[in-house]
Amino acid sequence: MTAIVTLPDSQRYARSVEASKRVRWDVEADVIRGRRFDTAHKFLPDGLALADAFTTLSPAEKRFVSQIQGRTYANVFGLVERFINAKVLELSHEHWFGDQNALEALVRFSDEELKHQALFRRIDTMVGDVLPAGYRFEIDANAVAHAVLGKSTWAVLALTLDIELFTQTHYLESIGHDTELSELFKDVFLFHWREESQHAILDELELVRHDGEVTAAQRDRAVDEFIELVAAVDGILRVQAKADAEYFAATCGRAIDEAESRTVESAFLKAYRWQYIHSGAQQPHFGKVMSRLITNAQGQRIQAALATLR
Ligand SMILES: [Fe+2]
Ligand SMILES: [Fe+2]
Repeated sequence: MTAIVTLPDSQRYARSVEASKRVRWDVEADVIRGRRFDTAHKFLPDGLALADAFTTLSPAEKRFVSQIQGRTYANVFGLVERFINAKVLELSHEHWFGDQNALEALVRFSDEELKHQALFRRIDTMVGDVLPAGYRFEIDANAVAHAVLGKSTWAVLALTLDIELFTQTHYLESIGHDTELSELFKDVFLFHWREESQHAILDELELVRHDGEVTAAQRDRAVDEFIELVAAVDGILRVQAKADAEYFAATCGRAIDEAESRTVESAFLKAYRWQYIHSGAQQPHFGKVMSRLITNAQGQRIQAALATLR
């Protein structure tokens, strides 16, 4: 997902519009295609689900864990896309009477995020159809969006860039040679990433544009707010790791003692931190974009915060 750095911004917005038109897909006709999930398959690849971290589980139990994580994947994306879309609509205001390519790019971005939320609601329901009852995801997307949007635009865009860049890592993890991996879930990664790759370019354009409008003091405060947002994401991941570990223990068909349940919960948390924080923050392009905007000391503050989430 290397940005086209040599083009003027207007052309980069225009290219994003072209790419958005070219890759556009439909939830039912292109992604679902009349298929259902099958519990004989893994839903998330081992490299994302961190199957190796679940050291006490059998291969069949690890497969079940990947299915639980698949359902949580749909829910977490549905949640983050709520605030991402609201921020994109807000930013589009700044292009109303300016670059019409930029305006169209953001309108398409917003339209795609609405579609992605519909896709992930559909995936949540479809996974629910084949897994045991009792799964819980009780974090309110609108409440999270209100909290996130209370932070500065700079901080929200930095978090959004992290998120939208990691869809590429997730897609790349899904195209390995694991024949047990669900073809339907592989398509979710593929189709989502095809539109997210435009979003990541737009996040960068908007972040750099917005960065030009803030003072050094505002940027310094925004770095702290970005760290606060990452910590808030981690808070969500802790809640869900606990819920998913409890669901696993209640439905896996054998007794899980207290020590093992702690191991399972910490493996879920490790996997979720990899999926939703580090797989984006470690992308070289994320570091490249951020390092153009912030000082070494600010970069070290971010790295130190991220290092506590291991
Ligand atoms: Fe999306
Ligand atoms: Fe997106």
